Amino acid sequence: MQTSNDEREDEMGLLDDKWLRKQEHGGRVSWRLWGTGILCLVAGFALGALFHRISTSTPQMSHGHGKSLVAPFEPSVKVTFQPNDTFAYATPGPEADAVWEALMPLGRGFVQVTPNGEFIPHAGSTSNLHNTKVVSAFHQIHCLNMLRKSLYASVGEPEKFRYMVPQIEHHWRHCFDYLRQVLMCNADVTLENLETSGEKLLARVDGWGTEHVCVDWRALKAWTEKHRGTDDGGID
Ligand SMILES: *[C@@H]1O[C@H](CO)[C@@H](O)[C@H](O)[C@H]1NC(C)=O
Repeated sequence: MQTSNDEREDEMGLLDDKWLRKQEHGGRVSWRLWGTGILCLVAGFALGALFHRISTSTPQMSHGHGKSLVAPFEPSVKVTFQPNDTFAYATPGPEADAVWEALMPLGRGFVQVTPNGEFIPHAGSTSNLHNTKVVSAFHQIHCLNMLRKSLYASVGEPEKFRYMVPQIEHHWRHCFDYLRQVLMCNADVTLENLETSGEKLLARVDGWGTEHVCVDWRALKAWTEKHRGTDDGGID
């Protein structure tokens, strides 16, 4: 059963592909995905949710497929993070959107791979859903851009937005640029599975149910706490 467009817009953090969805539905479909459902997000909530997701993720029943495929890349390039005002301060609009969009490959991270894990070069033909995966890193940059646009949208009502205090405003603008560079540095090359509806594959990706190779967050947290330099708590 197909979900309505309204239902689709309620699903946050989704990566969807109109090119593939055309094939899924065999015709023209409406394409409104980036962001109308989360316009009231503020930076604290957004970053809180990000951390919550990282630290409390639980196994999903709906579309897990066991051990994941990983694109053939190892961390190998030394990159010194530098502030970049093009990402942090550019006024919302076509110019700012363009520098973010330039981070995405043609195909938006969707790749073709055989069930045996062989990567299929693009040959000008339409993707087969059964061979389609998504490189996590591009899903993640997509999500960060969603948060950026949502945050900018909320700036319209500064009195409801305590993060507009100049000192804090600089902080969250910095965070977007910083997290962008973190995602690009640690490019997650795990291939994400398409969502399913019963037996049917859908031309969209929420990222859930795909196994990643990760740092042990609990161990890292315990180690950091053991070596802490202060007894202060909190996330702000
Ligand atoms: C900032 O990002 C833009 C767009 O990717 C790039 O052209 C520019 O060189 C970057 N500047 C710095 C200081 O890294």
